[in-house]
Amino acid sequence: MTPYRGLAPELQHDGALGARVRRAPENFLDAQAIARVQAEARQGRRGFLRSVVAAAGVAAAAGAGGRAHAQANPLPASGGDPHILELPEHTRALGQGVATDGYGKPSKYEANLQRRQSPGLTQTRQASVSFCPLQGLFGIVTPSGLHFERHHQGWWDIDPSKHRFMLNGSDEKMLKRPMVFTMDELMRLPSVSRFHFIECGANTGMEWGNVAVPTVQYTHGMLSCSEFTGVPLVTLLEMCGADWKRGRFALAEGADGSSMTRTIPVELIRSGEVLVAYGQNGEMLRPENGYPLRLVVPGVQGVSWVKWLRRVELGDQPYASKDENIHYIDLMPDGLHRAYTSIQEVKSVVTTPSGGQVLLDKGFYSISGLAWSGRGRIVKVDVSVDGGRHWREARLQSPVMDKCLTRFSLDWVWDGKPALVMSRATDSTGQVQPTYRQLRAVRGRRSIYHNNAIQTWLVQESGEVKNVQLS
Ligand code: MTE
Repeated sequence: MTPYRGLAPELQHDGALGARVRRAPENFLDAQAIARVQAEARQGRRGFLRSVVAAAGVAAAAGAGGRAHAQANPLPASGGDPHILELPEHTRALGQGVATDGYGKPSKYEANLQRRQSPGLTQTRQASVSFCPLQGLFGIVTPSGLHFERHHQGWWDIDPSKHRFMLNGSDEKMLKRPMVFTMDELMRLPSVSRFHFIECGANTGMEWGNVAVPTVQYTHGMLSCSEFTGVPLVTLLEMCGADWKRGRFALAEGADGSSMTRTIPVELIRSGEVLVAYGQNGEMLRPENGYPLRLVVPGVQGVSWVKWLRRVELGDQPYASKDENIHYIDLMPDGLHRAYTSIQEVKSVVTTPSGGQVLLDKGFYSISGLAWSGRGRIVKVDVSVDGGRHWREARLQSPVMDKCLTRFSLDWVWDGKPALVMSRATDSTGQVQPTYRQLRAVRGRRSIYHNNAIQTWLVQESGEVKNVQLS
């Protein structure tokens, strides 16, 4: 027996740590791959359980998929491992000097880890989205260069010395002193730094009807998490002498060509949570994420996090702007649209194993994933490997913070048989993530926004992992 610290007793045997994962095909999602996934999903819907068994059978019979790929990571040849026995050049010669690269980049061996577009999703790259590669990240923080992007009219690198932030009222009495701030003036004020997730309301939107895309990057990648630094909006409005008796809503406006405006309820602002932010992960915001100024509205859908923020107006009623009236509304089963659904409800997803990855061996795996809620903290994540018949409670990795991603993990020994891997999160308000069946009973199938259903990954006997839906 080998004592592996921190592992459950049933995992305490030699070889338990041998199981390997082949990475998801991060670099080659094409239109054909998407069409294949959708066709398989349509076929699967006619008899899902039959298809689970059949899929495993076909892969095993063809000898295709995972096992064959095990060779991609060969075991040491007899006579010793040359990577140990032969001294590599990097132990014998001088390496590169300091400051070779004034702003460091990831290793060239990590070149595939990129945010990526989904082919055919939008007609132009200016009104589009890039998805964050969740399958390749650790912990909870998204490296700024991999943060997902959603632009309505393209992004700009705005000169901060020319950028202005204006606060005004909907009438002359709403603010005693309307003000205009330069970036220097804003950055001289006391600031706060907080970790929060941002999720586009359309995240997982393609999956409302059926399985649509193969990997977690595309099912859940309109999601990122950063430490944001800025000034609470309440402080700035108070400096302007806001009339809190009449002021009930604020309108936030961006400086790009999309006329992006969103109504923010004053309760959120007065709680101190809403930030006028310039910092992201210890440095200035990236241009794609709103440099030099963006609104941070914790727990609320991404569209309200107005980028390139140039104006906030305090008023006494919601503004019913185009991005509130015709976009970002929920189509309900009775044909009516629900507007102003803004909180991102409790949700989670397993990132390993996830679609496109291949389990190369039977044995130990650390199932790992992310959970979050726009209503507060994550208090529990349950994981099932048999399609929801049995659940086990996962470990929550610290820190666990309000309206922030939480990393969870669970020890699992894969026996080589088909497995249906799912996670179900519960938040500090007692909300539990719904199944597709529960969500569709209330919301139907034809929505775009606010899909927080439980995600299922099918691990086939071949080790290949696929996106499936159980109801
Ligand atoms: N703000 C402006 N000015 N213009 C935009 O196109 N897109 C919104 C929001 N803020 C947008 C904007 C949407 S729909 C989302 S989901 C988030 O920004 C995405 O933020 P990110 O690009 O930093 O991920």
